[in-house]
Amino acid sequence: MDRLILTNIAQLVTCKGAAPKFGKAMSDAGISEDDCVLVENGRIADTGKTREIIKKFKPEEYKEIDCSQNAVLPGFIDSHTHFVFAGYRQDEFAMRLKGMTYMEILNAGGGIANTVTPTRNMPLETLAAAGKSRADIMLKYGVTTVEGKSGYGLDKETEIKQLRAMKQINNEHAIDVVPTFMGAHLVPKEYKGDADGYIDFLLNEVLPAVIDEDLAEFADIFCEEGIFDIKQSEYYLTKCREAGLKLKLHADEIADMGGASLGAKLCAVSADHLLAVSDKGIADMASRGTIATLLPATAFSLRKNYADARRIIDGGCAAALATDYNPGSSCTCSIPLIIALAALNMNMNVHEIVNALTINAACAVGRQDSIGSIESGKKADIIILDYPSIDFLPYYAGMNIVKTVIKNGKAVI
Ligand code: NIG
Ligand code: FE
Repeated sequence: MDRLILTNIAQLVTCKGAAPKFGKAMSDAGISEDDCVLVENGRIADTGKTREIIKKFKPEEYKEIDCSQNAVLPGFIDSHTHFVFAGYRQDEFAMRLKGMTYMEILNAGGGIANTVTPTRNMPLETLAAAGKSRADIMLKYGVTTVEGKSGYGLDKETEIKQLRAMKQINNEHAIDVVPTFMGAHLVPKEYKGDADGYIDFLLNEVLPAVIDEDLAEFADIFCEEGIFDIKQSEYYLTKCREAGLKLKLHADEIADMGGASLGAKLCAVSADHLLAVSDKGIADMASRGTIATLLPATAFSLRKNYADARRIIDGGCAAALATDYNPGSSCTCSIPLIIALAALNMNMNVHEIVNALTINAACAVGRQDSIGSIESGKKADIIILDYPSIDFLPYYAGMNIVKTVIKNGKAVI
């Protein structure tokens, strides 16, 4: 029996309760009266008062971490990233600083396409190694599960290669990877002017191979003006759902296309970005339980207005926060940056932020039964902060105050 006990915890934050947490319920991250967490064989076995729990065991029967100066919370879940890629675009970032917009660069043939060619050319092993070194950094920020998307192949071979790389990272790295098939990220040059033809190719040629090899849990599409329209998105997502995938979509990022409402209509697990979401989109997501995934580092990096978190949460939605780590619109996996932006620029309170990075993010990756909160039976994916309360998370702006990361019951950082 492998047993670890976190004792005398200054502040235990469980994020327990209804999953996901909608609207007002997000303002309670579940600060517990208990001050002890019992971990057995990689799972959370119990929580309670330190004295009550340790008296059940002889000292040689467990390892102890004293947390009398520390807050303890569930591992963070980065529920929206594109972290497996080759082809940085620092030159485009410099162009944006000079005033060109993301869409202007994309429409001039740059953008995502400039990551596609290097990703096509990079061997699987190298791509997986690049992903693993990025995952090393995520883990230091307390991220114990990350969602990753394909979408830099836009051909059968490379889409499959990206997803296989994610499977390899999941198997060989402490971090858990939730893979998403996002062939519908852009119409590649081979299908220029024929988005419908490209979608048919994805559905007829690529999707069956993804399903055969069990390479993805979710499907995603870039539903945006000039990329894929609502009709194409609905068709593609419906077919992906019929094939057995759960759904996400990049929705209402630059223009309000009705993407959030489409997500709700299709019972998508999440609709993401939402910088331009309408009141109707918010109401539809709230009523169908579609998670609103907010990506503040993208708005920050594109110098756009942030998603209106107050309107979205106060409108009754369950919100998640994620980095959108990708080489174009948000080249960062910094959780401290996300926390700072959410607190200071989106007016989210610290409880909302913690719920958005844990239990609601777990829901956004369909894993709320096993991760996202500290409660008996769940995986022991736990982080210990350097400071005694979660109030230090936004206060220490942009700084990593994660001291220890426990993954499946073992301290990995
Ligand atoms: O979520 N919006 C589309 N996809 C990514 C950007 C990908 C890229 O620019 O490489 C996003 O922002
Ligand atoms: Fe994205």
